Amino acid sequence: MTRESLLSIRGLSASVEGKPILREVDLDVARGEVHVLMGPNGAGKTTLGHIAMGDPAYEVTDGSIVFDGEDITELSCDKRSHAGLFLSFQAPVEIPGVPLSSFLRATIEGRAGMDMKNKEFRRRIKQLADELNMDASYLDRELGVGFSGGEKKKVEMLQLLLLQPKLAILDETDSGLDVDALSVVSKGMDSYRRNCEGTLLIITHNTRILEHLDVDRVHVMVRGRIAAEGDSSLIDDIDRNGFERFGHRADEAE
Ligand SMILES: Nc1ncnc2c1ncn2[C@@H]1O[C@H](COP(=O)(O)OP(=O)(O)O)[C@@H](O)[C@H]1O
Ligand SMILES: [Mg+2]
Repeated sequence: MTRESLLSIRGLSASVEGKPILREVDLDVARGEVHVLMGPNGAGKTTLGHIAMGDPAYEVTDGSIVFDGEDITELSCDKRSHAGLFLSFQAPVEIPGVPLSSFLRATIEGRAGMDMKNKEFRRRIKQLADELNMDASYLDRELGVGFSGGEKKKVEMLQLLLLQPKLAILDETDSGLDVDALSVVSKGMDSYRRNCEGTLLIITHNTRILEHLDVDRVHVMVRGRIAAEGDSSLIDDIDRNGFERFGHRADEAE
């Protein structure tokens, strides 16, 4: 049985500040699946995530992105978000005086099916914080002020579970997630899968985060191209042998 397509990227080429980064990328994610995008530093993985989300800093020079049956190549980031796309770079900026709970309240503002009374909203986010083993006092903290990398990740997971997007692209950025943050991310992904049969595209180097997930497909990006695709056995292969056999040179400038 072929599963219904959710994200379909075709022949996507893109540049940033006039410099070509992505080259003729094809990538398909079906509804309900878990995909992993791997590749050496500088390959263009984060760029792909930002372009899928409509970040105006990147210029699409060729190709198309179809999401949930709609061509979104030209849509604004906001419209894509309302269509059900989520990218985990939305780490909150620092807004002194604004508690995290108000920020989360604003993220669901005007979304279909998300009308909630304040009390109900409080109950909902408390329940989510609980699920993630986060202290509820966290919700009253000022947005972003003094948040560590790990704490920002937790906020993203709260956002993910609150919004329940159709597709979540999680860019784990490889920078220092401690054990605690890793566990929150794992819990968040689990809960997203269980509660809303969420579809995931995980960009990561950290294969530990994938241990509890059934990965359907792995995509390997090298120098802006998809260099290989396969099932989850590719993850172990890359863990052992690196990216050389996909055309990456270890001495390559990163
Ligand atoms: N906003 C930007 N401005 C300039 N160059 C960028 C920008 N974003 C990405 N790049 C360049 O694009 C290439 C791919 O980067 P990136 O997508 O972050 O790779 P990865 O996530 O695979 O490590 C790198 O050479 C990087 O320097
Ligand atoms: Mg990156």
